[in-house]
Amino acid sequence: MNYLQGPVIGIETSCDETSVGIVTGKTVLANVISSQSEKHREWGGVVPEAAARMHAELFLPVLKSALQEADISLHDLVGIGVTNRPGLVGALSVGLSGAKALACALKIPFIGVNHLEAHILSPFIDSSFTHPHVCLLVSGGHTELILVRRPGEYSKLGGTIDDAAGEAFDKAARTLGLGYPGGPAIEKAAVGGDPDKYPLPRGLREPTFDFSFAGIKTAVARTVEQYAENLDISSLAASFQTAVTSVLAERTLAAARESAVEQITLVGGVASNNELRNRMAQLASKQNIQVTIPHHRLCTDNGAMIAHAASWRIAIGELSSLDLEASAKSPLP
Ligand code: KG4
Ligand code: ZN
Repeated sequence: MNYLQGPVIGIETSCDETSVGIVTGKTVLANVISSQSEKHREWGGVVPEAAARMHAELFLPVLKSALQEADISLHDLVGIGVTNRPGLVGALSVGLSGAKALACALKIPFIGVNHLEAHILSPFIDSSFTHPHVCLLVSGGHTELILVRRPGEYSKLGGTIDDAAGEAFDKAARTLGLGYPGGPAIEKAAVGGDPDKYPLPRGLREPTFDFSFAGIKTAVARTVEQYAENLDISSLAASFQTAVTSVLAERTLAAARESAVEQITLVGGVASNNELRNRMAQLASKQNIQVTIPHHRLCTDNGAMIAHAASWRIAIGELSSLDLEASAKSPLP
């Protein structure tokens, strides 16, 4: 991939992380992430209006920390990227307004970044490999299997027909009384649990590259009701984690075989789950398929992945105008 020469800033405010990253090509100079999850935990999930207000409070302090971490000044920047889609429109608008203000003041190129593309390209930040490959994008809002022919050329192979994988973790955690965000809470609770104690369904049967997590979620709720105070929460968390991660890993490997590719990437917040990372690596090594998973900090929402995608898009000649809007939904480019 070609990149803009010099530091590019990336601003991410699509959900409940206020983040500013700075990269020069593949080198991350700063990646400051201020999570609002403590606050949203009190309400049991992300409250869009509150998220937008907190982004407005956090934006300037996070920007200042990122510049300090990178040891540069605003005037050293050569480009600006900002997530403008998909996400919570009020939350996105805060980052977008900040980015536009910087672009006006600094008179440097500015581009709106598709959040999903930034996740898809994130493995290129800390590794090098060739195309094409199959990418499993698993986050709070998305679960998609994508054939990446090259950066910018994507075909969807399959996706969830109901909940996203991260959403399933969040809902199951709420049912188990483990709080928000559910993924890390379930991963922690599952330690020492017996994943075979409460057998759970696996959703859609193969052959398909689609996913369904609604049945697993309902089975968790039913098990909680059935066992009441005798429930072994740790084992149910482990059973849930195993059910979800095994479907994700098996289907991704099947998609790689079907697409005749030798490389898989795993991206998005759920990609920071260690059981998923290990399961994917073990299955793939048996089939001589290489797996690339970004560092944990590049899996959940972060500004560095936005800066990285922006640096590439600006380098290939793309720019956005200052009347760019935020949008809740967006297909891949
Ligand atoms: O990519 P991301 O930070 O935000 C979106 O673009 O949605 O993903 C957030 C999702 C949440 O649903 C969260 O529960 C899940 O990623 N997640 C995890 C883990 N860490 C975050 N799921 C499973 N295991 C984890 N360790
Ligand atoms: Zn994300």
